Amino acid sequence: MDWKYLPIFPQSASNFSPHVDALYAYLVTVSAFFSILVAVLIVVFAVKYRRKSESEVPVPLNEHGIGNMMLEITWSVIPLLLSLVMFGWGALIFFDESKPPADAMDVWVVGKQWMWKVQHLEGVREINELHVPVNRNIRLTLTSEDVIHDFYVPAFRTKTDVVPGRYTTEWFRPTKVGAYHLFCAEYCGTKHSGMIGTVYVMNPNDYDAWLSNGGTEASMTDEGEALFQQLGCVNCHGPQNNGRAPSLVGLYNSRVELKGGGTAYADTSYIRESIVHPLAQIVNGYEPIMPTFQGLVTEEQIQQLVEYIKSIGPKSPAATGHAPAIENGLAQNPAMSGVAGEPAPGAPKSAAPKAPQKAQQ
Ligand code: CUA
Repeated sequence: MDWKYLPIFPQSASNFSPHVDALYAYLVTVSAFFSILVAVLIVVFAVKYRRKSESEVPVPLNEHGIGNMMLEITWSVIPLLLSLVMFGWGALIFFDESKPPADAMDVWVVGKQWMWKVQHLEGVREINELHVPVNRNIRLTLTSEDVIHDFYVPAFRTKTDVVPGRYTTEWFRPTKVGAYHLFCAEYCGTKHSGMIGTVYVMNPNDYDAWLSNGGTEASMTDEGEALFQQLGCVNCHGPQNNGRAPSLVGLYNSRVELKGGGTAYADTSYIRESIVHPLAQIVNGYEPIMPTFQGLVTEEQIQQLVEYIKSIGPKSPAATGHAPAIENGLAQNPAMSGVAGEPAPGAPKSAAPKAPQKAQQ
């Protein structure tokens, strides 16, 4: 259904929009049908079964033959089925929105009171704006510097909480070139309502031109590598294992043995946690000697470090199709190609190792 003639609706500009709108139409239709049915029956029955004379005494219920089992079952089962459709349909859309496709293009976002800061892998940064190419799957990895925000683009029919201390993801495939509102959808303080921006969906050529006009910033991977040197991470986590700390080559998307048993899945959240809470999960065979970098690096810098560590890890299926720095095999270590749990490129998503849920502060 095309809602564009109803000015109360935002534009429909992503792969999710038609599905969310169709479900919404179903909810409205079912609700309206039963609301009208009940309202009409109230009036009709009030007239039909009104007390017609002063002396009229209602017939006791059981003499009406009420207690009709078929009737009871019918008006229980039909609403049950109608609401199960709501549940099932909504769950399907929710699962779809929760699972970024493997070929998605990565963009990093930091929310803070009261702005959105965006980093592209190529190094271009923007504030309160997000430029993306049309018809490409886009995966945002989001975090917050302070309180909970929520990244909401109504035209894409998707929103995600942006939570301090962890990474959340949001994905969409913009289907129409244009400029769309970006809102914060979580009350986050005095200027919450001013925490707005614009998402620009561009033709691929325009997008490439925009990217190359974005200045001479180094790519996120290069920035991350420079930080890795500056902060001295390389002294312990160098490519040659020196016994103090594990080498990070091949870490990304692999399974890590932990001290005291158990394993952790080295996704972006694990890497972030290891930087700011290094003692939370100690790799088997090492001492808990790493200092925390909390407060010493900004969330944007952590994202650059994560991108760098991703780039020296096994190639993730999610990285294919984009991220030239990663594609070009920056320090891709052939010795790591057999890392357990690494999904083959192009393998179905279900084959990817499952990330255990880690307790987070
Ligand atoms: Cu950020 Cu509301």
